[in-house]
Amino acid sequence: MVIVIAGSASPKLSARVARRLECRLLKPELQHFPDGELYLKLGTELKGEHAVVVQSTRFPQDLNLMELFLLLDAAKDTGASRVTAVVPYFAYARQDKRFKPGEAVSLKTVVKLIQRAGADDIVAVDIHEEETVRDFPLPAKNFTAMPLLGRYLKKLGLRSPLALGADQGSEERAKIVGDEFGAEHDYLEKHRLTPTKVATKPKKLDVSGRDVVIVDDIISTGGSMVEAAKILQHLGARSIRAACTHAVLVGNAHEKLKAAGIKEIIATDTIETPFSVVSVSPLIEEAVR
Ligand code: R5P
Repeated sequence: MVIVIAGSASPKLSARVARRLECRLLKPELQHFPDGELYLKLGTELKGEHAVVVQSTRFPQDLNLMELFLLLDAAKDTGASRVTAVVPYFAYARQDKRFKPGEAVSLKTVVKLIQRAGADDIVAVDIHEEETVRDFPLPAKNFTAMPLLGRYLKKLGLRSPLALGADQGSEERAKIVGDEFGAEHDYLEKHRLTPTKVATKPKKLDVSGRDVVIVDDIISTGGSMVEAAKILQHLGARSIRAACTHAVLVGNAHEKLKAAGIKEIIATDTIETPFSVVSVSPLIEEAVR
């Protein structure tokens, strides 16, 4: 039997996954000791069950990671026959290699700890670099939320829509989103004009008078989206929206986006925010089934 265990960073997503799987949802008791340490109680034994622990490792990453380790260990320790770690937003995934001598490869460390804590397999969504999951020391699947974002956009009835990757790295994402809602796709490309001057513009398509959706995997400080929005305003886009899987939105990033003329932020529930209008629960359901 499958049982979904709700991490405190993913209460809504956990409930949605349990509903889709038509299985039990366990909400563990979580408390903070006066010195900041966590206390966690599952409140039941999990003998022979397949425990699906759902915990985003959004800010505060370290605390959410520690809770994830406690959840996985408690699930395994109380008899679960299989423990799946669903980490919809994967903290530390951006440091996936040693770029400079002596650097800690944080993704590798986090994955090792997830495995040692009791996970038999991992499910991630739009992890920073898709290929990194192939090197995980345990079975791991990475799903993309881009088709789900595209399906949401289809309902908005945009005029002459364009899915625009925030940079070349997001071209494929923009293609998936665009294909899903019948829009053309392109990406923003940087051209070096002089040794000190760079101009950024869409690679091939005209944006003038169009409803443009800028597509990225993450909006963190919002800097990339704000820059893109400025360019699109200048080029005469009719409206600008920002679509991403992970709305990290550091500090007042969402206000910066609004001030830059971005009409709407469309994000998923890998990080639960007021902008989570798309749920990745169908992907988690597919992974567990
Ligand atoms: C970069 O590799 C990512 O795809 C995003 O473009 C980046 O993380 C966005 O960061 P920020 O919102 O801080 O510009």
